[in-house]
Amino acid sequence: MSTNTPTPEENRTQDSPLVLAVGNQKGGCGKTTTALNVGGALSKSGYDVLLIDLDPQGHLSEDCGLGNEYDADGMSLHDILSDLSKQDQINEIIRSHDEFDIVPAHAQMFQTESELTSAIRREERLQLALAELNKEYEFILIDCPPNLGALTNNAFLAAEHILLPARPTSKSIKAIELLMHQKSALENGYSTNIDIVGVVGNEVSYDNESKEMMDWFEETFESIAPIFAVRSRVALQRAADNSGSIFAYSVDCDMEAEYLRIAESLVDEAWQEGRTDA
Ligand SMILES: Nc1ncnc2c1ncn2[C@@H]1O[C@H](COP(=O)(O)OP(=O)(O)O)[C@@H](O)[C@H]1O
Ligand SMILES: [Mg+2]
Repeated sequence: MSTNTPTPEENRTQDSPLVLAVGNQKGGCGKTTTALNVGGALSKSGYDVLLIDLDPQGHLSEDCGLGNEYDADGMSLHDILSDLSKQDQINEIIRSHDEFDIVPAHAQMFQTESELTSAIRREERLQLALAELNKEYEFILIDCPPNLGALTNNAFLAAEHILLPARPTSKSIKAIELLMHQKSALENGYSTNIDIVGVVGNEVSYDNESKEMMDWFEETFESIAPIFAVRSRVALQRAADNSGSIFAYSVDCDMEAEYLRIAESLVDEAWQEGRTDA
């Protein structure tokens, strides 16, 4: 091999976005809240952000005031994922929001997984679509559904980075073990690396179980990923009811600082990977 052959890192274009799958197959652990507020923190810090609502339930779209897109006629993320010839049309389904851009979910996405069952490149559809984006983003956050099916696999392969929200309860251990198993299976099957770049303890309280689980996160992910702690705050729900993150909501919330810390750590990750000159 010539010594001039660029390494993959050198070959990477300076401005390729850091794509993150916000994933954990457990429902209600804070995926959507994390995607929305980390997106808000990155936007507040001056970055161009795209959110993708990959959960057929469409909660993120609703939290961004785009609930009307959920059963609208016309092209949707379902069409982009289920038809291999339509990936470039992702540009047509991007909607703008005050804080970021968003690709909303559609009710038809409840059928996407079964339609993909025997399809060619069924787990790479989102990756192929993101390669067709016309607009340049610095960060793309994918809000995953609450299972480890084809949609989540699409997110993990498209992102190659996982931001893992988890409630600090003992039930999270099994969920995280299953997620790590799925991640390894995809890495082996597709000869790729998928990195966990942050663990967000969500609804962390002051009781013993919370403390023990935060210690378990620290031990399990030591030297792999930083651990963050978001406490339970009604302002997070109110901001979503108000169609945005806490950064767009008029009431100050002490968790803004933690979301900004997560954003800072992702900016650092993007910089280390040579994706941004920020
Ligand atoms: N830190 C938090 N403080 C208060 N409410 C929260 C917090 N995190 C999540 N919630 C609420 O809990 C519910 C489930 O959270 P969500 O982010 O939708 O989880 P998931 O996307 O994993 O299903 C939502 O109603 C959300 O508003
Ligand atoms: Mg959700």
